[in-house]
Amino acid sequence: MPMAPQDQTLEDRVVTPDPLKEIAEIEAEATAALEAVTDLAALEECEREAFRSKRSRFSSMYQQLGSMTPDQRREIGRLMNELRSRLETIADTRRAELGTTARAERLAADRLDLTEVLPGRLAGHLHLVTQVREALEDVFVGMGYEIAEGPEVETGWRNFEALNIPEDHPARSPLDTFYVDFSEPWSVLLRPHTSPVQIRLLQRGVLPIYAVAPGRTYRKDTPDSTHLPVFHQIEGLVVDRGVTFADLKGTIDTFVRAIFGEGTRSRLRPAYFPFTEPSAEFEMTCVICGGEGCRTCSGVGWIELGGCGMVHPAVFEATGVEPEEWTGFAFGFGIDRIAIMRHNIADLRVMIENDVRFLGQF
Ligand code: PHE
Repeated sequence: MPMAPQDQTLEDRVVTPDPLKEIAEIEAEATAALEAVTDLAALEECEREAFRSKRSRFSSMYQQLGSMTPDQRREIGRLMNELRSRLETIADTRRAELGTTARAERLAADRLDLTEVLPGRLAGHLHLVTQVREALEDVFVGMGYEIAEGPEVETGWRNFEALNIPEDHPARSPLDTFYVDFSEPWSVLLRPHTSPVQIRLLQRGVLPIYAVAPGRTYRKDTPDSTHLPVFHQIEGLVVDRGVTFADLKGTIDTFVRAIFGEGTRSRLRPAYFPFTEPSAEFEMTCVICGGEGCRTCSGVGWIELGGCGMVHPAVFEATGVEPEEWTGFAFGFGIDRIAIMRHNIADLRVMIENDVRFLGQF
């Protein structure tokens, strides 16, 4: 602590020889120091050292006022007061600047960037065929159907005999069907259609039946834009009292509209299947041209979807269902083909290539 002026003898009084120079030096030193600080704590410390503390060069100069002549005291006192207020202004400005910076830094640190794209984990999703299968299931569940299943390895009896398919039918040829080397020769196979699930449902003996059975099917076809050796079908079977061909037509129309849109129409054309009588092929208006005729539909405006018909009495007989009491209809069609038509895809083979650039689009 420097001694207070009243404790000093006259001789002790050390008056700065050049107070103006001292003031100028104090100002230069303090201003530089204040401007150099980089945080609020340092600023406070700097203010104390520059002019607030009793030990500061400013305070000791101030104490010397008492030893000056009245004129000098008035003049130097005024200059010092002015200096103090200038230093205070500098400190206040600096405080405001540092406060803004500190807040900005805090905000930047706390900032949550909601637009930031984080790499994250690559999540997969259902294959397009599965998505379309589920869409079809939804439509039929909405109509009160149950979802049924059958094995992909099936007996020749369920796949052919019980479905009234004669011994000499071309589908039974090993050129068309994959047989499995198991049990009696030619008695077990990879099912070439989902129709054997009809037999399984009828064998269950629980009537009435309102069921669809989606699943994988196999045929000895070379892959091309419209064929795959492993593909998917969905089978429909309704057995109840008094079921008519009109019910079949209405059901097909309903699902076609549900999957392809209200504007889509369907039609039946006479066909032959051993397990339905009468039988029909069902078609829908071409998704590309809307019925006008284009390359996709070979100019006819219609695209064939699958087969259908009224359950043949021979099928009821094979499964022990009374054909006088029960009537029914069945239909079957390819899910992969529905998928490519629904999404306007040119080639079926993309379904099994598993190229993520393709699959990722759905
Ligand atoms: N199973 C037949 C096929 O694969 C389609 C079909 C199913 C036809 C049900 C009539 C009734 O071609």
